Amino acid sequence: MPEPDAALESTWWRSAVIYQVYIRSFADGDGDGIGDVAGLRSRLDHLADLGVDALWINPWYPSPLADAGYDVSDYRAIEPRFGTLDEAEALIREAHERGLKVILDIVPNHTSSQHAWFQEALAAGPGSAARARYVFRDSGEEPPNDWQAMFGGRAWTRVPDGEWYLHLFDPEQPDVNWENPEVRADFEETLRFWFDRGVDGFRIDVANSLIKEEGLPDVGTKGHHDPGPHPHWDRDEVHDVYRSWRALADTYDPPRVFVAEAWVPEADRFARYLRPDELHTAFNFDFLKAPWRAPALRESVERTLREHALVGAPATWVLSNHDVARHVSRLARDPEADIGTSLDSLLGEPADLELGLRRARAAALLILALPGGAYVYQGDELGLPEVEDLPEAVLDDPTWRRSGHTERGRDGCRVPIPWSGDAPPFGFGPGSGQPWLPQPDWFVRFTADREDKDPDSMLNLYRTALRVRRNEPALGDGPLTWLDVPPGALGFVRDPGFAVLVNVDAEPFALPEGAEVALTSSPLTDEGLLPRNTTAWLRV
Ligand code: GLC
Repeated sequence: MPEPDAALESTWWRSAVIYQVYIRSFADGDGDGIGDVAGLRSRLDHLADLGVDALWINPWYPSPLADAGYDVSDYRAIEPRFGTLDEAEALIREAHERGLKVILDIVPNHTSSQHAWFQEALAAGPGSAARARYVFRDSGEEPPNDWQAMFGGRAWTRVPDGEWYLHLFDPEQPDVNWENPEVRADFEETLRFWFDRGVDGFRIDVANSLIKEEGLPDVGTKGHHDPGPHPHWDRDEVHDVYRSWRALADTYDPPRVFVAEAWVPEADRFARYLRPDELHTAFNFDFLKAPWRAPALRESVERTLREHALVGAPATWVLSNHDVARHVSRLARDPEADIGTSLDSLLGEPADLELGLRRARAAALLILALPGGAYVYQGDELGLPEVEDLPEAVLDDPTWRRSGHTERGRDGCRVPIPWSGDAPPFGFGPGSGQPWLPQPDWFVRFTADREDKDPDSMLNLYRTALRVRRNEPALGDGPLTWLDVPPGALGFVRDPGFAVLVNVDAEPFALPEGAEVALTSSPLTDEGLLPRNTTAWLRV
C-alpha cells in the first residue's frame, strides 16, 4: 500500500463516505440468527469492494437490548451475542488492512439499567454517591416534573424506596448525571479505551441531551424540537463536554474524530457543535426530511451549506439510518403527501416502489456529489425497501411497547440483510436458521449476490459512483456553484470540471453542450434528454 499522506490522514473525515453497520442485522457468523462481529468480518470485502472509506458500527457493547443496544451495560466490552473483544480487535485490524476506518457509537446520555453503576445506585439508596451518578429525586407521590420520555409515557420511574429516576428514553435507560465529575472522567476513559485499540472515531448518540437545566423545571407545552431554550435539549453547558472530548481526540495520531447525532432545529445552535474546538461533523437530518421536490431539496442544501460555513465544518448527507423508514419506501410516496420519516407516517399512503427505487438512485448520485461527506445505511446500496408489514408478534422496538401498541416503530428498517440465495435467511447466517426479524420472500430481488451480477443494479450504481467520486478531485469537500436549470430540476458545478444535474420532476431536458456523461442514475431518453427522477454526473 502507498504511504498515506499525512495531511489527508488528518482530514479524511471532511469527504468520507461512511457505511453504517447495524451489527445485529448485518451478517450472522455463528448461526444464532443475530448479526455479529464474525459476520461483519466475513463481509468486510463487500464494504471494500463497495468503495466506502469507513464504517460506523451501532452499539456492540454488552446490553440487555431493551433499545437494540442503546442501553449499554458495559462500555468497554462486547455483547457476548455479538462476539468477543478479541474478535473486535481483529475486526478493527482487518478493516484497517482494507483501508477502512472504524467508527463506534457512544451513548453518553444514559446507561442500561443493568449497568453496574445503576445496580449499585439502586442498592446504595437515597443520598448515596452511587445515586449521584444518575438523576434521582425525591418528590413524593408525583414525579419531579412533567418531562415525557421519547418512546412515550413520563420520563420518570419510581424505585421501591420512593425516589424517582430520570430516563428521557426507556425506563431501562436511566439518564446519567453530567454534573458529576466522575461521570465525565469515566466516559473519557471509555473513549481512550477504544482509541487505544485503533478506533478512528465515535458517533455520539443524542449529543444534544446530557445536560439538564438546574432545578429540572417543567417543559410545559414546548415540543421536543421547538426552537428556543429547552430544559433538557441543547443546553449551553454541553459544549464543555465536547471541547474536552476534542482535546482528548487530538492527542492521538492521526487525530480521532466525532460525528454528532443532534436534532437541533436552529441553524446557528446546530453549528455550535461543529466549532473548530468541538465535534468534527454532525448528521444532517434537515436534508433527510426534505421531500422529493426541487425547491425543497435546494433550500435544504443551501441551508446546510450556510450553517456549516459559519464554523468551517463539512456537511454530511444522509438518506436513511436505523431510526427512520428506508428512503426507497419514503420516496415511493407522493412528495406532496404529508409524510414524516417514520414507518408509521407512511402507512396508508399509496406506494410505487419502482418509482421509489428510481428516485433513490437519483438521490444517491445527488448526495454523493454534494460538498462534504455522506452516509450509506446498510441495505441502501441494495435499494432495500422498508419492511412495512412485520407481524406484530415480532416487533421489538420499545416504541411499539411504550406507545401501547399504536406505533410500529423502527423495526422495518432493521430487518437482516439478504446476501444470497432464493429463500430466507438469504445467506444472512450459515445454514437455514432464521434471523431475529423475519425477512420477506421478496427480499430475493435484493440479494447482494444477485445485484453483483446485474450491471444495472443499485449495488453496481453505488460501486461505480464511489469509484468515480474517489478519483474525482472535484467531489467531496469543497465549494458548489448553482447552475441555471429548468424549474423542477437542480444543477450545480463542482470545480474543477464536474457538473451535476438532477431532474426531479421537470420535463425531460437536454444536457449542456460539450458535456461528457460520467454516470447517470437511469438511462437518458432516446433523444439524449435527462428524464424525470434522474441524476447525471458530467465532466465539463
Ligand atoms: C438515538 C439512536 C436511537 C436510540 C436513541 C436512544 O436516537 O439513534 O436508535 O433509540 O438514541 O439511545
